Amino acid sequence: MPHVHPALVIFLSLAALATSCTEKEKSSLLQFVAELSQDGGLTNSWENSTDCCRWEGITCSSDRTVTGVFLASKSLQGHISASLGNLTGLVCLNLSHNSLHGDLPLELLSSNSIAVLDVSFNLLNGDLQVLEKSTLRSLQVLNVSSNFFSGHFPSPTREAMKSLIALNASNNSFTGQIPTVFCVSAPSFAVLQLSYNQFSGRIPSELGNCSMLTSLNAGHNNLSGSLPDEFFNITLMEHLSLHDNQLEGTLNGISRLKNLATLNLGGNMFSGNIPYSIGELKKLVTIHLDHNSMSGELPPTLSNCTSLITIDFSSNNFSGGLKEVNFSNLPNLKTIDLMLNNFSGTIPESIYSCINLTALRLSSNKFHGQLSERIGNLKSLAFLSLVDNSLTNITSALQILSSCRNLTTLLIGKNFKNEAMPKDDAIDGFGNLRVLFLNDCSLSGKIPLWLSKLTNLEMLLLYNNELTGPIPDWINNLIFLFHINMYNNSLTGEIPTALMSMPMLEKDKVAPKPFELPIYTRSRQYRMAISFSTMLHVGRNNLTGVIPEEIGQLKALVSLDLRSNKLIGVIPQSICNLSNLEALDLSGNHLTGTIPIGLNNLHFLSKFNISNNDLEGPIPINGQLSTFPNSSFQGNPKLCGPMIARYCGSAETTITTNVTKNIDIKVISAIAFGAFFIVGVMYDQIVLSKAFC
Ligand SMILES: *[C@@H]1O[C@H](CO)[C@@H](O)[C@H](O)[C@H]1NC(C)=O
Ligand SMILES: *[C@@H]1O[C@H](CO)[C@@H](O)[C@H](O)[C@H]1NC(C)=O
Ligand SMILES: *[C@@H]1O[C@H](CO)[C@@H](O)[C@H](O)[C@H]1NC(C)=O
Ligand SMILES: *[C@@H]1O[C@H](CO)[C@@H](O)[C@H](O)[C@H]1NC(C)=O
Ligand SMILES: *[C@@H]1O[C@H](CO)[C@@H](O)[C@H](O)[C@H]1NC(C)=O
Ligand SMILES: *[C@@H]1O[C@H](CO)[C@@H](O)[C@H](O)[C@H]1NC(C)=O
Ligand SMILES: *[C@@H]1O[C@H](CO)[C@@H](O)[C@H](O)[C@H]1NC(C)=O
Ligand SMILES: *[C@@H]1O[C@H](CO)[C@@H](O)[C@H](O)[C@H]1NC(C)=O
Ligand SMILES: *[C@@H]1O[C@H](CO)[C@@H](O)[C@H](O)[C@H]1NC(C)=O
Ligand SMILES: *[C@@H]1O[C@H](CO)[C@@H](O)[C@H](O)[C@H]1NC(C)=O
Ligand SMILES: *[C@@H]1O[C@H](CO)[C@@H](O)[C@H](O)[C@H]1NC(C)=O
Ligand SMILES: *[C@@H]1O[C@H](CO)[C@@H](O)[C@H](O)[C@H]1NC(C)=O
Repeated sequence: MPHVHPALVIFLSLAALATSCTEKEKSSLLQFVAELSQDGGLTNSWENSTDCCRWEGITCSSDRTVTGVFLASKSLQGHISASLGNLTGLVCLNLSHNSLHGDLPLELLSSNSIAVLDVSFNLLNGDLQVLEKSTLRSLQVLNVSSNFFSGHFPSPTREAMKSLIALNASNNSFTGQIPTVFCVSAPSFAVLQLSYNQFSGRIPSELGNCSMLTSLNAGHNNLSGSLPDEFFNITLMEHLSLHDNQLEGTLNGISRLKNLATLNLGGNMFSGNIPYSIGELKKLVTIHLDHNSMSGELPPTLSNCTSLITIDFSSNNFSGGLKEVNFSNLPNLKTIDLMLNNFSGTIPESIYSCINLTALRLSSNKFHGQLSERIGNLKSLAFLSLVDNSLTNITSALQILSSCRNLTTLLIGKNFKNEAMPKDDAIDGFGNLRVLFLNDCSLSGKIPLWLSKLTNLEMLLLYNNELTGPIPDWINNLIFLFHINMYNNSLTGEIPTALMSMPMLEKDKVAPKPFELPIYTRSRQYRMAISFSTMLHVGRNNLTGVIPEEIGQLKALVSLDLRSNKLIGVIPQSICNLSNLEALDLSGNHLTGTIPIGLNNLHFLSKFNISNNDLEGPIPINGQLSTFPNSSFQGNPKLCGPMIARYCGSAETTITTNVTKNIDIKVISAIAFGAFFIVGVMYDQIVLSKAFC
């Protein structure tokens, strides 16, 4: 209300107190509710007899004109009524986070008053072509994101949407070229959000006319070609994200975008060096150039970008040492990810000046040498991955790292080749460690006692080493451990009963905490420990003795690998209780007796191998087990069944003799269980006689 006498304002306000909203507006709103199939309880507040300016979600101006309808997250269902177009003073309409479907009515889009229209996070669909007929002269913010809109993005007339400042169309199925009409028609156009659609083609050079654009996000589309020269004219740009497209070419013009704070070009095909001029981007906070084909050395001028908090250059062909970059000029850094490149030399000392660093990943490069003592300065470091380099002196490395008290994730496998596992008294600390990857180092020695102090450990990877001696009895001190991989070592002794009382193998995991950086293994990406499966892998060792009956307690197990050991005795019946099992490998042992028929009840089992043992009797033919190939069973001369093409001629006698043997063993453990077993075998015989006789 510009240039109005204050007295008049007071008068108008008083007058407003006395009156109510108009019947016409009231009925437009009631019509809107009437056309919903689910009104989320609005009718409790929206009573015809009361002033609609007092209704839930409604705001009015002082002259009792409805100016705002704020109904976000109200569980509304149904379509949006055209009657809202009759609210001639409506300025803000926010219907986000509901379950509205259908299209946006033209009547609504013909409004000359609406400035903010947010229908994001609904189930709206259609092609939005109504926008081409709409007027919407006052519209400043349009958010149609996270719906099911499709087709080319419409090009409204120059008159329509001339006030547009922000358009959010992300997370729909729009196709065609990215829209640039607003660059010409809307002089204040500043925010364009188009990510997660199917926009294709090149980045139009007309985008360079969007001189007021501060934020462009078109990540996760099918854009191709290089960035046009005009693009670098948008010097007000602060947040640029074009990740996960097929863009190519170099980044030579990038330093013209002097105001950049966020640059995310990850997941494209950009090539060439990082330009020397990058140092001119003094406001740069976050830079993601990961998963491209960029090469060359990092320019020393990177250390001029003193605002940097996040650097992600992973999965490129960068090379050279890092000594030229002075990280001590980048004190704000919290994340450095240089995974999967060809960086070489020693890890630069200046990195250890970044005392706020929480995540450092240098894995799959060619770094060599010993870890510097100065890494102990990084008191905030929570995630460290040095996997797959050529680092040496594991004893020294672990001693130094133990002073990084906040470490929760330590991935240092594929280094320290053929060294000795540090001895018991040498290591202390790591009280907060949750994940330890020490695989593929060919380490000799025993499983060390210092591991028993890592009482928060959830995942322990020691596979592909040369560790000897037993699996220690203290293993069940690690009450959060659920992912155990000691595959391919030279461990001896029996499977300890302590392993059969691991709390986290018995019950489901809780409390997901995300990693500071996602962990990649075998081309999969894991954002939190909980996404890894509960597993016990001690295959390819020299373990002896029987598989403990108590294995049946480890009900959370998803994968059990005991293959290629020297285990004897029967497959315990209790293994059939592991109803979450997806993979079971007992192959290459000396197991005897029959196959427990209850294995058929393991409905999630998709990998199963009992080959190369001394098992006998019929393979249960009705159920899960019959779906596995004969390679799962072969190498057991006394097994019979159709899948290994060996006829169970004397099935009855065979079973009878071996039931007796099995019961003898069972009697020692559990009588009730033996009874169940007999029932199981009898059932087996009935099934068999039906199938074969
Ligand atoms: C609301 O009340 C008016 C009169 O007070 C009446 O004419 C109108 O039909 C009512 N509307 C509804 C939806 O009940
Ligand atoms: C809008 O108002 C006009 C005139 O009052 C009326 O004829 C029309 O039915 C209304 N439209 C809707 C969708 O409520
Ligand atoms: C609409 O409401 C939601 C939920 O309150 C809010 O997050 C969003 O920012 C609002 N939209 C606009 C454009 O203000
Ligand atoms: C929709 O986008 C606008 C403009 O970007 C933004 O202000 C608003 O908060 C967004 N709404 C939601 C629910 O995020
Ligand atoms: C645009 O919408 C997406 C998803 O609907 C949301 O995550 C994003 O924050 C929005 N952008 C802006 C600038 O509000
Ligand atoms: C925009 O970019 C083009 C090509 O780089 C250049 O010729 C032109 O002068 C620039 N325009 C402005 C306004 O900076
Ligand atoms: C930018 O970096 C170079 C090389 O590291 C340095 O010589 C120069 O002084 C820096 N310039 C500014 C403005 O910081
Ligand atoms: C490190 O983080 C602390 C706490 O967030 C902050 O106070 C301090 O300024 C940061 N130091 C640097 C050098 O950024
Ligand atoms: C260590 O981690 C804790 C818990 O996440 C956090 O509160 C604390 O600030 C961290 N210490 C440092 C030095 O970053
Ligand atoms: C490992 O490092 C420690 C401490 O720096 C040193 O005493 C020891 O000699 C090193 N061992 C080898 C094999 O280099
Ligand atoms: C198991 O022990 C035997 C000697 O007893 C040895 O020859 C063999 O290499 C060991 N196997 C493994 C996998 O360690
Ligand atoms: C059953 O067990 C006995 C020993 O109790 C063994 O001699 C026999 O070979 C087993 N049965 C078969 C079919 O091998």
